[in-house]
Amino acid sequence: MRATLEEIRRASLEAIESVIDTEALEALRVKYLGKKGELTAVLKSMGGLDPAERPVMGQLANEVRAKIEDAISSKAADLKRKLMEQKLALEAVDVTIPGTKDDFGKKHPLTIVWDEAVDIFTGMGFTVAEGPEVELSEYNFTKLNTPDGHPARERSDTFYLTDDDSVCLRTQTSPVQVHVMETTRPPIRIISPGGVYRKDEVDATHSPIFHQMEGLVVDKGITMGDLKGTLNTLVKRLYGPEAVTRFRPHHFPFTEPSCEVDIQCFECHGEGCRVCKGEGWIELLGAGMVHPRVLAGCGIDPDVYSGFAFGVGLERMAMRRFNISDLRLLYENDVRFLGQF
Ligand code: DAH
Repeated sequence: MRATLEEIRRASLEAIESVIDTEALEALRVKYLGKKGELTAVLKSMGGLDPAERPVMGQLANEVRAKIEDAISSKAADLKRKLMEQKLALEAVDVTIPGTKDDFGKKHPLTIVWDEAVDIFTGMGFTVAEGPEVELSEYNFTKLNTPDGHPARERSDTFYLTDDDSVCLRTQTSPVQVHVMETTRPPIRIISPGGVYRKDEVDATHSPIFHQMEGLVVDKGITMGDLKGTLNTLVKRLYGPEAVTRFRPHHFPFTEPSCEVDIQCFECHGEGCRVCKGEGWIELLGAGMVHPRVLAGCGIDPDVYSGFAFGVGLERMAMRRFNISDLRLLYENDVRFLGQF
């Protein structure tokens, strides 16, 4: 029996030593120490020994068992540590590998000029006002001194939403002027960018939806000089300090006097070329001094206060800024085009 026990000790320790995973180690535990294991079998046969030999063999068997248990648990710890080391090596972060770049997309060219214009005006002390795109004709026309029967009200030009033409998609951002003047007292200094709608056929310069930015300043002693100074600042900030403007008389129902502002063609410097269609100037925006009737209609005394207003097309501004020749490109959502700006 001694020889058997010694052999079990030798063989088991050798097997445990060379094991490389926990499953194999568990199998060895079962093989030697399990209910039907080799050592267990020896212990069971102890009853057949000479009574004098029993305690000696019992002690040896216990020694062998303890040795095997020790070997198994130290091997188990060993395997666990190795596994952890492997895992750590596998998950190690190489901080020297170049990163991958996320594609965040880009601002739409329209948004770029929109944000720029807002930036320029807020820098001059303006705040941003908002108005509804579904508008009462009362605000889009009447309160802007545009009487019934005025050609701008034609059904062929305006999207009306009711049979009596009392509600429409606003055709301009100018009604925001009225909303602001009805709800706030001077001094007023606001801009209002947003969508406007007209029944235009789609072509290189027209779209049934486009965007404008309205501006309005009302205070005591506001003059055409303030209008010119403000708009010249806008133009020079947008197009550079050399940009030259021209204020040309025009007519709008809600301003008196009214003007259109042109910028000298930067291609030919006024000579006339393909870009400016031979004019030497490019039309930029409409403006004027707020009509006394519009002020009075909003409860602002035109004998005390005066103001100027302007409306600029944002698509036109973006097209000029980025040399885009076809308005449709702004709406076709082709990322190959939009990714350039
Ligand atoms: N609302 C005008 C348009 O859509 C633009 C405009 C002209 C706005 C003169 C103004 C202004 O505020 O004073 O053509």
